[in-house]
This record gives sequence, structure tokens and C-alpha cells, in this order.
Amino acid sequence: MASAEGMQPDAHPSKDTATEGNEPTEGDMGKWVDPAGNPTYNFNEDGTVDWYAWRGSKKYGANCLQCHGPDGMGSSFAPNLTESLQNLSYFDFVGIVVSGQQNQWTSPNSIMPAWGEDPNVMCSLDAIYIYLRGRADGVIGRGEPPRPPKNDEGQKAEYDCLGF
Ligand code: HEC
Repeated sequence: MASAEGMQPDAHPSKDTATEGNEPTEGDMGKWVDPAGNPTYNFNEDGTVDWYAWRGSKKYGANCLQCHGPDGMGSSFAPNLTESLQNLSYFDFVGIVVSGQQNQWTSPNSIMPAWGEDPNVMCSLDAIYIYLRGRADGVIGRGEPPRPPKNDEGQKAEYDCLGF
């Protein structure tokens, strides 16, 4: 694996990258973590993103894009998450996605649904975060990232969680 160490985040990185840096260490099942243990992205030798970042882009497309727009860039319905992540840590992000949030962005009737009961989101929560962290850091571009090598363990864990 080529390290993300050499990848320079843009001038407005995610809060975790601003606080912890983006030097990745391999954790369980090929999932990379930063020095504080927060999920993060990495890059393969061929330049593709790690499997979780790729999977997260898919899951983002299936569950979040309809409101938050292509590539996390926001829409008239919901905020730009590549900007939101500059102020949200991994734990902040998880709390909002699990429990929802209302009227912080605009009001009234600005409602982020709670996803805590939805396995399609919960079983891929880290993957979605990893993808959006890479987008916020400016190191994962627009559009679906090219498909990386398979991660059988990671995919099995997701399917087990979904009850397949
Ligand atoms: C039905 C539309 C909708 C969908 C689908 C949706 N969101 Fe949201 N989301 C919103 C709205 C609206 C807000 C702003 C809520 C507010 O004003 O407090 C929001 C806010 C957020 C925030 C907080 C941003 C901030 O700056 O405070 C995060 C993080 C977030 N959404 C992540 C996600 C993720 C991840 C998904 C997919 C799993 C998702 N959302 C799916 C509508 C949606």
C-alpha cells in the first residue's frame, strides 16, 4: 500500500485530519485508522483508494446523495458534507447520522433523518465516513473512485451485519 502520508490534504481538511493528521495505520479487516484510532482512507500502489473509501462512495450514493448531492457537495435540501466535516469529528458525525439533527443548517423544517435503525447505513457507517473524510481533505476527487482490489473480509463483515 502506498501511504496517504505523502498526500497533502487541502487547506480546509476534515476536523480529524486537522487534529490527528492523516497518517494511516492498518487496523482490522483492511480498515485504516489515524493515530487517534478514527477511520481514515489510504491509497493502493496503483493509486486506487482503499476498499472502504470506495465502498463508502457507493453507500453514500445509495443513502445520502438524494439530499446531500453528488460527491457530498450539498444541494438545496441539505448541507455540503465536505465542508461540514471541517467542523465535525468522527464521533460527532456518527452521533448525527445515528440520531439525526434538525434546524442547525437552516430552519424551519431542515431535517436530517436518524439512521440508527437502518442497517444499509449502519453496516457501512465507517466506510461512508472514510469516503467523506477523503472528499473533505481534498484527496479523493469527484465521481465514483475507480474500483480497488477486493477486500473479502471487509465485504463479508458488511454482509454478515446486513444478515445476508
Ligand atoms: C432526506 C434528506 C437527507 C438524507 C437522505 C440524508 N441527510 Fe444528512 N442532512 C439532511 C439535512 C436537511 C441536514 C441539515 C439538518 C439541520 O439543519 O440540522 C443534514 C445534516 C447532516 C449532517 C450534519 C451537517 C452539519 O453541518 O451539521 C451530517 C453529518 C449528515 N447530514 C450526514 C448524512 C449522511 C452520512 C447521510 C447518508 C447516510 C445523510 N446525511 C442522508 C438531510 C438528509
